[in-house]
Amino acid sequence: ASTSSSAEGCPFHAAPPAPQSGPTGCPISARAAEFDPFSDGYQQDPPDYVRWAREQEPVFYSPQLGYWVVTRYDAIKAIFRDNLTFSPSIALEKITPTGPEANAVLEQYGYAMNRTLVNEDEPAHMPRRRILMEPFTAEELKHHEPMVRRLAREYVDRFIDNGRADLVDQMLWEVPLTVALHFLGVPEEDMDTLRRYSIAHTVNTWGRPRPEEQVAVAHAVGNFWQYAGKVLEKMRQAPDQPGWMRYGIRKQKEHPEVVTDSYLHSMMMAGIVAAHETTANATANAIKLLLQHPESWREICEDPSLIPNAVEECLRHNGSVAAWRRLVTRDARIEGVDIPAGSRLLIVTSSANHDDRHFADADFFDIRRDNSSDHLTFGYGSHQCMGKNLARMEMQIFLEELTRRLPHMRLTGQRFTYVPNTSFRGPEHLWVEWDAARNPERQRPEILQTQVPVRIGEPSRHAIARPVVVESVARAAGGIVRLRLASPDGKPLPRWTPGAHIDVECGDPERSRQYSLCGDPADTRTLEIAVLHEPQGRGGSAWIHAHVQAGDRLRIRGPRNHFRLDESARKLVLIAGGIGITPISAMARRARGLGLDYTVHYSGRRRADMALLDELAALHGPRLQVYVSEEGRRNDLAALLGAHEPGRQVYACGPLRMLHALEALGAGWPDDALRIEHFASDLPQLDPSREHAFEVELKDSGITVAVPADRTVLAALRAANIDVPSDCEEGLCGSCEVRVLAGKVDHRDKVLTRAEREANDRIMTCCSRACGGKLVLEL
Ligand code: HEM
Ligand code: FES
Repeated sequence: ASTSSSAEGCPFHAAPPAPQSGPTGCPISARAAEFDPFSDGYQQDPPDYVRWAREQEPVFYSPQLGYWVVTRYDAIKAIFRDNLTFSPSIALEKITPTGPEANAVLEQYGYAMNRTLVNEDEPAHMPRRRILMEPFTAEELKHHEPMVRRLAREYVDRFIDNGRADLVDQMLWEVPLTVALHFLGVPEEDMDTLRRYSIAHTVNTWGRPRPEEQVAVAHAVGNFWQYAGKVLEKMRQAPDQPGWMRYGIRKQKEHPEVVTDSYLHSMMMAGIVAAHETTANATANAIKLLLQHPESWREICEDPSLIPNAVEECLRHNGSVAAWRRLVTRDARIEGVDIPAGSRLLIVTSSANHDDRHFADADFFDIRRDNSSDHLTFGYGSHQCMGKNLARMEMQIFLEELTRRLPHMRLTGQRFTYVPNTSFRGPEHLWVEWDAARNPERQRPEILQTQVPVRIGEPSRHAIARPVVVESVARAAGGIVRLRLASPDGKPLPRWTPGAHIDVECGDPERSRQYSLCGDPADTRTLEIAVLHEPQGRGGSAWIHAHVQAGDRLRIRGPRNHFRLDESARKLVLIAGGIGITPISAMARRARGLGLDYTVHYSGRRRADMALLDELAALHGPRLQVYVSEEGRRNDLAALLGAHEPGRQVYACGPLRMLHALEALGAGWPDDALRIEHFASDLPQLDPSREHAFEVELKDSGITVAVPADRTVLAALRAANIDVPSDCEEGLCGSCEVRVLAGKVDHRDKVLTRAEREANDRIMTCCSRACGGKLVLEL
């Protein structure tokens, strides 16, 4: 919406103006006016409740809430990325302001909840985050694993013979609380008191308590505050004991201006909530979701190595944080909508997690999805959840314990209820039942001894490949075979959109190659790819041509789409060279289905070597132009495209020479007018022509690793089997920091301050490089 009072320039509201208008004068649509995050619709299924927005009006003003609501993945990630324009300072603010009576009660308790980490602005936040990071490293988290396992076992022991349980009341609420208390270093005897208080805190912050409830909530919050202060004092008496709070108390001695008293007291309270309810809810959501998809439940019971990715997919599909908040500090534009400074944003991360633009067939629950861990349930960037790997560890252990001991468990018929609030989400009760006579441990007590090692951190992409059967292998043209792949159990495969690709493991998990899908997206039973034999290639296509036969099993990942068709384009020009026809053919089929104005331009050297020709001619008739150089016809790109035409979009896939020529032609065009398929690598894009190669010597490991011009230090270290933690991999979060002993660093992150850069004693390995030929690192 424009900041003037007319609707002109608003990308979502042409005319006629709606009866109500928002703070910028932009009219408010009927659905935006109705939006109520405390309604049953939002509580039951937030991403479904805002589906209309994700599709039609991705950024809208909610008059009931007084917030702008953002619903798409890319926009939300961009908001997380820029924590200066979009300040986290309101993240814990009460969403429904309390009345004077409740405020007076809070004052009576000396309630002075202040900034912690999650709602602290820069420059105060990042130094504190970094100082307090160590207890969250994989090395440190490992020490908590036996405690989490012991608790999970004890709680299941209590109800395993009963045949039914409310998992929330009988396990999931208490175990993460106890884990959180251990992690923070709080004495166990205070658990019951804290349990009562922390519920009140959620209602106080994210809920809409009725006026008569507000006072009772305020008393509980006040008590929580005072109690947290007392526990903190107790801990100060024995600062050398374990726990994150005591670690903070010790760090306060070194950095009193960074780790302040006010921070410690506030964190004592906020830390319990951060670590407890989020994890309890996430696990309850996960078990509910898995039991609602019995196939997936059976699969993880049979193959526990799928658990880490199943956890990730549950966090994506139905996470425990449905939305988060940011304050706009300067005039900004989100998805073309002008948002004035001072606006408040409700960023519906659960909606981002269901955005088809980022997650193929996003509503589909798929424990083998290869980008599940891109979800935004833990936030992203400089404030991304520090406790995420503790939460993941707990969820993995709970699922492991339950799948091993209660594989025959099922959901009891029930209606799920939620504590009404915008952000924290999990069922209040989760009733499950089973036939106790069939408990596997009665026949085989030895199963209690088996343990699957916990994976700390994100699941490995190698572990989550999807098995498929090759249904047919057919020759598609000279040197090209067409493979049709189906799932081994005949179940539907994830749906895909034109431009999507899959990764095929070519005989070895390390040899994984990307192939665009070329079949019919409406067919969910099979996936089709066409593979050109490239003798000079890296061996993937040669392997497929030499070995793959009908009936074989392959492992694939995906589908994923980095080359998405904009279906709102007025005119489409689809250009393919050689095997580049695969994604283009899928786009053309879609354009035809939608009745769009499109043409297809397909070049090749010899007609006999051009795949899909007959099929394309049959489908597209005169809209298809074929250029065969051996027959003397070439695609003159300059003549074909001429100057930019508004509303026209050009999509191209083919040999590099062709793509470069197109890039040169389209240099002056608007951003989206030319889209080219770059097979995206998992590594951040580095331009090797502007970078130089160097070496990193690892002092502790006694090895030297070469960092080529097209690789990050992080990627080079990983390739050498050196584990370095990372999150954002774009210089925002500080997770990949390593100490530098010698050599000058070319800093490219946004984490270090100028003084820290000058000190030259640390590097963010995901993005920064060496100025010279060598760095010496403490690794
Ligand atoms: C921050 C979610 C578990 C500690 C956050 C944020 C979210 C979140 C959404 C804000 C991210 C942002 O602004 O970008 C979750 C979820 C959890 C979980 C869904 C469980 C499934 C935990 C646990 C702990 C923890 C177990 C501690 C042991 C923190 C801390 C921050 C944070 C300290 C603040 C980081 C900063 O601002 O620098 N979490 N969390 N969380 N979380 Fe978690
Ligand atoms: Fe986030 Fe490097 S700064 S991984």
